[in-house]
Amino acid sequence: MSEQQISARKQGNKLKLPRAVGKGRQVDPKALAEVQALLGDESRQKDLLIEHLHKIQDAYQHISAPHLVALAREMKLSKAEVYEVATFYHHFDIIKENETPPPALTVRVCESLTCDMMGAQGLIDSLEDGMGDDVRVQRVPCIGRCDKAPVAVVGMNPIEHADVAKVEQAVAAKAIEPEQITPIEFDAYVENGGYETYRACMNGTYSIDKVLDSMDDSGLRGLGGAGFPAGRKWRIVRDQPDPKLMAINIDEGEPGTFKDKYYLDRDPHCFLEGALIAAWAVGINEIYIYLRDEYAAIRESLTVEIAKLKANSPVENLPTIHLRRGAGAYICGEESAMIESIEGKRGMPRLRPPFVAQVGLFGRPTLEHNMESVYWVRDILEKGPQCLTDHGRNGRVGLRSFSVSGRVNKPGVHLAPAGITMQELIDEYCGGMTEGHTFYGYFPGGASGGILPASMGNIPLDFDTLNEYSNLITTALKEQSVHLIITGDENIIFEGNKENFIQVMINTINNAKEAVCKKSDIEKIILIDVKQNEHHVIEINLTDSGGGVSEEITQKIFEPYFSTKEDRNGTGLGLFIARKYVVNEFKGSIGTSNVHFEYEGEKYFGANFKISLPFSE
Ligand SMILES: Cc1cc2nc3c(=O)[nH]c(=O)nc-3n(C[C@H](O)[C@H](O)[C@H](O)COP(=O)(O)O)c2cc1C
Ligand code: FES
Repeated sequence: MSEQQISARKQGNKLKLPRAVGKGRQVDPKALAEVQALLGDESRQKDLLIEHLHKIQDAYQHISAPHLVALAREMKLSKAEVYEVATFYHHFDIIKENETPPPALTVRVCESLTCDMMGAQGLIDSLEDGMGDDVRVQRVPCIGRCDKAPVAVVGMNPIEHADVAKVEQAVAAKAIEPEQITPIEFDAYVENGGYETYRACMNGTYSIDKVLDSMDDSGLRGLGGAGFPAGRKWRIVRDQPDPKLMAINIDEGEPGTFKDKYYLDRDPHCFLEGALIAAWAVGINEIYIYLRDEYAAIRESLTVEIAKLKANSPVENLPTIHLRRGAGAYICGEESAMIESIEGKRGMPRLRPPFVAQVGLFGRPTLEHNMESVYWVRDILEKGPQCLTDHGRNGRVGLRSFSVSGRVNKPGVHLAPAGITMQELIDEYCGGMTEGHTFYGYFPGGASGGILPASMGNIPLDFDTLNEYSNLITTALKEQSVHLIITGDENIIFEGNKENFIQVMINTINNAKEAVCKKSDIEKIILIDVKQNEHHVIEINLTDSGGGVSEEITQKIFEPYFSTKEDRNGTGLGLFIARKYVVNEFKGSIGTSNVHFEYEGEKYFGANFKISLPFSE
């Protein structure tokens, strides 16, 4: 029995394969030859499964059952495993034998919050009516271009501020390739002193202790959301047994977040140099970079720039750098799910302990970082820790990259002092609200986090300051709680007074539900309403509501909180989703069919409480 089957069996799930890929299916010689041609002489090792699935999807715009079976044979994997992995990821179109493949061209339209606010729904309706049978119009979650909303992607070509005419034009011109980006390339980077700091580390000019001290002194905290001190993480992983690995997280799937893209569009080598320095300091020889599939232009650019780096290595023993491609699964931003995905599996989060620092990628101790966390390393060493510590406001220290989208004059990534308030950010960095809109509310942690009203626009924005207000029910909890929908970093969406707030919340909840996992995995969405020292828990049972959140339900829940000015004061909403498989896992470990999740309510909500999720098979 495969690992997959054992784990499915443990969870009480029976693997059901469609007949087309089921037990008796023979390998089709033509499909096998096609798969062999696509894979060429590349390794067939198991962890490359997702990479190889991409090759088939790219070549045929779908993955047929005979191709799946052929790939399983070629990689010496079970058909069940290949099928389970392929169907987990949204970007693979698995077509059974009796099904019709999708049209060769797909136009994807983002329907997440900011795009929705900026007219995505109307755009989708018009495209669905007008595109004809040769083009598939698909609704997709955030693609990391929220500052240019609404956004459509024709093939791989992103159309910013999209309208029907622009999309039709791209389709007619067969303009389907990723856009051109113009990052600082290898030669230019080196000419400006790039990789000198890395060289100085390797030749002994800097000692490991000095580098670790500088990291501590800078106060740099992980910028993937958890805010764990980077220097401390390096020391922890450094103390683990060899061989150790590094995994860089560029999944950036949280609706409203696009800061990693911003830096990679401009300066990929600064990130690579930081990763190499971290690898040296921690004692790592292999780096895996996990890049979300939506960033096709960055993938092309990174492939080229990594090749140049390898060909002109600034040091003798450059660590091996692997670039891995995500496949459209929000949950793969969670570090352990990302690791599963890099290993060629479904992106199912692991239970902890053990932590990935101890048992991570391929079972090895792993230094896992958000891309931006290592992006700052070069500056910290060259300019000194004060390049970060000299900044900060309202008692906070450091710099933060705020992804801002919505009704402001200058949306985009703004590098601003930690602790700046929303109101200050709007006034000083974003050029104020757009005409006809007043500041109404904001999502300090992306669409999956909570929403705060404008009356709470004077809270310092930083990792922990928001905990007090509980709109992010996350920061400390999320590392242990895979069923929480959490925030990325600070990313902010403004809601102007013209929008229908209820629609925004419906979008947010439904999007979160779609994004985190397959519908069938979700039992409930739980909203936590916090008013000063009170809280209460609102459960939306998705089974009852047909798997979605209706306008009626949402209206009932949210309207009172935002309808009057008074109500808006001191109200925060947190949102998380209870996933069936998590419940399954817990059930297995405590042997009861009634599972209780207990949260540190006192710390986060001013009172202790329990959430009980009854589980039935
Ligand atoms: C559901 C979920 C999604 C996440 N998505 C991302 C992501 O897209 N990028 C990221 O760097 N971290 C993401 N994280 C946080 C990672 O699990 C991890 O804390 C982070 O990558 C650690 O790197 P850092 O120390 O540099 O912040 C996510 C966490 C959860 C629970
Ligand atoms: S690109 Fe549409 S919300 Fe982010």
